[in-house]
Amino acid sequence: MLRPIVKYGSKVLEKPSKPVTNITDAEIKLIQDMVETMYKAPGVGLAAPQVGIGKRIMITDTSAGEKKDHLITFLNPEIVLTEGEQYEEEGCLSIPGFTAEVIRPSKVVLRGLDLNGKEITVEGSGLLARAFCHEMDHLNGVFFIDHLSFIKRDLIKRKIRRLVKKGEWE
Ligand code: NI
Repeated sequence: MLRPIVKYGSKVLEKPSKPVTNITDAEIKLIQDMVETMYKAPGVGLAAPQVGIGKRIMITDTSAGEKKDHLITFLNPEIVLTEGEQYEEEGCLSIPGFTAEVIRPSKVVLRGLDLNGKEITVEGSGLLARAFCHEMDHLNGVFFIDHLSFIKRDLIKRKIRRLVKKGEWE
């Protein structure tokens, strides 16, 4: 089932999400819906708060559904290692229409649980490292625009405010 993606300005996106303590049918269904919603968008990552659920669940697929084994599901992820730097254009399904260059580590190792509750550790580089950091940020109430200079961030925020006023940000 597709779920609506909540946009910048929504409270659930602004606060840290809660750890998953139990993997029940509700979590499994949520993850299935997140996968469907991410592929439909299409996007390379999605975090539970982006569909209005404040739980520490994130998914990534840097092939955007092109390759079957690229889907990675993390519950309660933690960054255990970062290395290097990359500076690339980034966007967000919750801030549609805006992109900006963001500095991220070039390599990231994440540890957490998979959807069976088994501990997994995954190393990502390039786009996957970027996606890991971006989705981790969502679980902590942080947006990619929070990494920009005040001037660049303020410009985007003002444009969004204008869209909100015109009723074009729902
Ligand atoms: Ni995002």
